[in-house]
Amino acid sequence: MAVYLSRSADDTFEWAKNYAKTLRAGDTVLLEGEMGAGKTAIAKGIAAGLGITEEVTSPTYAYINAYGDTLFHFDCYRVTSEAQALALGFADYFEAGGICLVEWSENIAGLLPERCKKIVLKKRGEEEREISF
Ligand SMILES: Nc1ncnc2c1ncn2[C@@H]1O[C@H](COP(=O)(O)OP(=O)(O)O)[C@@H](O)[C@H]1O
Ligand SMILES: [Mg+2]
Repeated sequence: MAVYLSRSADDTFEWAKNYAKTLRAGDTVLLEGEMGAGKTAIAKGIAAGLGITEEVTSPTYAYINAYGDTLFHFDCYRVTSEAQALALGFADYFEAGGICLVEWSENIAGLLPERCKKIVLKKRGEEEREISF
């Protein structure tokens, strides 16, 4: 995995905006890291890189935010079973041909596509984040 050391939220945003250029329709990217690491910050940058102008907010309570057919942003923090995830239609989103970003993917391990990309964030200071990808 390659590593990028981000020095601010803006830095992470710009990095993610560039990273978005490497993504193709149908890709799933797992976003890993503790609460506050910057997973949603990455999602904001990726959305911008894909040309999405809508404001990207954390889907923690909605579980999934859809940005047209282009980007689906999942937050599985509060998902307690794969049955619940299926009932929420998660499997359909993975088949829909958009780019899927998944926070707390360990809660839906059995439903993930076979091949996923991954971005791992580690806090290295107040504003420093190690981004492995
Ligand atoms: N280098 C950085 N990259 C990303 N976020 C940062 C950075 N430095 C500080 N932050 C702050 O950390 C928080 C990250 O929040 P968020 O993206 O919602 O995290 P998560 O989705 O992983 O819980 C934001 O308040 C952001 O401003
Ligand atoms: Mg988040």
